[in-house]
Amino acid sequence: MEPQLLDLERLARQTGVILRMGFGRRHRVEHKSHWIDLVTETDREAEAFLVQEIRRLFPHHAIVAEETGNHGDLAGPRWYVDPLDGTVNFAHGMPIFSVSLAFADEDGVRLGVVYDPMRDELFAAERGKGAWLNGRPLRVSDTARLADALLITGFPYDAWSNPDNNVDNFARFLVRTQGVLRLGSAALDTCYVAAGRADGFWELRLQPWDVAAASLIAQEAGARVTDPRGNPLRLEPPVSILVANPVLHAEMLKVLRSEENTERSSRSMGG
Ligand code: IPD
Ligand code: CA
Ligand code: CA
Repeated sequence: MEPQLLDLERLARQTGVILRMGFGRRHRVEHKSHWIDLVTETDREAEAFLVQEIRRLFPHHAIVAEETGNHGDLAGPRWYVDPLDGTVNFAHGMPIFSVSLAFADEDGVRLGVVYDPMRDELFAAERGKGAWLNGRPLRVSDTARLADALLITGFPYDAWSNPDNNVDNFARFLVRTQGVLRLGSAALDTCYVAAGRADGFWELRLQPWDVAAASLIAQEAGARVTDPRGNPLRLEPPVSILVANPVLHAEMLKVLRSEENTERSSRSMGG
């Protein structure tokens, strides 16, 4: 049996109830790979629910899940599960987080849903059929110039220790745009571009479950979705991403590439 968009929507809303109930409580916070890479009991509870339900409904499908890893044979139909995208926000009582759920077949992601339980906003897309927010069609902005653009970005978990931490790109865009936000949920960030609330989003070294659903939602809303060099997005870790309407995407690429050019020219000049 093949899942329908309604299946993902129902699962995301049910998970949203778990997230809402956990929000604002004191959490048992554990640290994963880095000090700022957190997991709470709500992440685990929400993931356990999703994995159990997907296995019950679609026992032959594989699952790539953030907290429990890979389940089943990833060569066939598979799900990408981020039970709580924005755990740092969630753990601090900041109401910006989401649940992200995608289903992929041999041609890539076919269905994607990102649900923000605090605003009751459900972003959804089906490959080739469109993208919607609570049932209304989504469309990216038509902002063509960086000087008119509001962008969103994020910073990787190894930002304390890895100099390739996106701060240089952040500074470049800050002085060329109307603003650069850091909201803390890559799935929602991407959906906000799909909805035309922001004009572009880029981030380095994410994971497939962060953007599997949202990248389809953005594409179906008319965005160009690539890596920051302009290559097709691949859902293999690490996933670096650039999302914007096609005109602004080209402008953002120039800025992201100018960084590489500067590095190269300073290296070649012995700098
Ligand atoms: C994180 C969020 C954040 C991004 C991090 C992600 P998590 O996901 O999407 O915006 O900057 O890189 O890992 O850990 O809260 O699911
Ligand atoms: Ca995530
Ligand atoms: Ca997560």
